[in-house]
Amino acid sequence: MPAIEDPGRLVRPDSVHRSVYTDPSVFKLEMERIYGQAWIYVGHESEIRGAGDYRLSRIGDQDVILVRAADHQVHVLYNRCPHRGIEILGEGKGCVGRTIRCPYHGWTFRLDGTHVGTPLRDGLAGTAFDPAHPDFSMRRVARIDSHRGFVFASQADHGPDLRSFLGGVITSIDNLCDRSPEGEVEVAGGGYRVMHDSNWKFFYENVIDMMHPFVTHQSIWSAARKKSREIGNLPMELQIGEGLGAPYQTWEQLELRAYGNGHGILGNIFLGVGLDLDPVSKAHFESLAKVHGAERAAQILGLARHNTILYGSGALQTTFQLFRILRPLAVDRTLQEVQLFRLKGAPDSVFRRALLFANVAFSPASTIMPDDMELYRRGQAGNRLQGGDWISLHRNHGSDVDLNDSRLSKNGTSELLIREQYRAWQALMRGNAANAGQGLPAC
Ligand SMILES: [Fe+2]
Repeated sequence: MPAIEDPGRLVRPDSVHRSVYTDPSVFKLEMERIYGQAWIYVGHESEIRGAGDYRLSRIGDQDVILVRAADHQVHVLYNRCPHRGIEILGEGKGCVGRTIRCPYHGWTFRLDGTHVGTPLRDGLAGTAFDPAHPDFSMRRVARIDSHRGFVFASQADHGPDLRSFLGGVITSIDNLCDRSPEGEVEVAGGGYRVMHDSNWKFFYENVIDMMHPFVTHQSIWSAARKKSREIGNLPMELQIGEGLGAPYQTWEQLELRAYGNGHGILGNIFLGVGLDLDPVSKAHFESLAKVHGAERAAQILGLARHNTILYGSGALQTTFQLFRILRPLAVDRTLQEVQLFRLKGAPDSVFRRALLFANVAFSPASTIMPDDMELYRRGQAGNRLQGGDWISLHRNHGSDVDLNDSRLSKNGTSELLIREQYRAWQALMRGNAANAGQGLPAC
């Protein structure tokens, strides 16, 4: 199949060609046409509070620096010195002080990337070297914007603005922040970095795939159920795993909503299990009710979405305050960063609960994440084989409901969100960003 001539041919309304996971030329084109266009999450403002604070980040295959300047402005710069092309900052985060200095020949730059100076400037006299020319400064990513502290950047100087790009999923960022009595969140508690030996798209398909938990996570839910019976109790440590063993009918009751550009929302998978009734939830409710009144507090906590896909950036988990950020590295290699948030002004027990959830569900030592990772790896391995070319996305196809701004499935086991991811993928890969966004033309 001539993938590179028309990558759109790899997608059908109800299926997708296996080469979208395995073909390096497809991956290369994704970096240009998806990650070269889309708004991608690069970090949270609370990670760079002071002048000179930075954190390294990534947009597709591009390493970037998120940095705060002395005037409090936030900038996103390509991590490259314009002199000899050296990667200036190493991994992680820190503070560079008043300027960024290349570790090779000492060229220095202001925190907005503009050129400050070079040692032995006389050696450049009489040459075409011009410190005022952009070629001698660190290059800024074309566009940057933030929403309630969440900083996004786009490598394209044109296209939809951040709010238009995110569409309805922006309400999940709002809800996460609204869960704080002060209306603000901050990154806290460290984080995890997990390397996937698989293509980046498996993750987006899995986090909203509710046909898999009963089968894939059987070892954890059956063990949790057994232990719970033994101790006559269901503490949260066990409840998280036990809930994955809910029968298919439970998953079918959930709601899925696709918002264009590959974004989508999965409703709360713990509905009816009783998390709302525990002392931590009650204390959280009271802290919000004190500020907003009981009605608004109930409204905020009642919007209990499980996973929100910000396609290209990762999956936001509002009820347990974490963001699983996804960084594609190669066609078969992806880095996941798990970032945890503290809700400012909320009881400390709410943060400790989120930490517990993150440890049980998403840490490298968790009993849940490795099940998924193994399936991603097997997806990568199986799709290399000549055992068939097309992947079925038929479940509940044709029964979706078109709304003004989204497409809805009242059945949580539907493959709607995966089909919509590929509809957006197809439009973006054909260079037709308008058809990837809202408006949701019929499949
Ligand atoms: Fe899973």
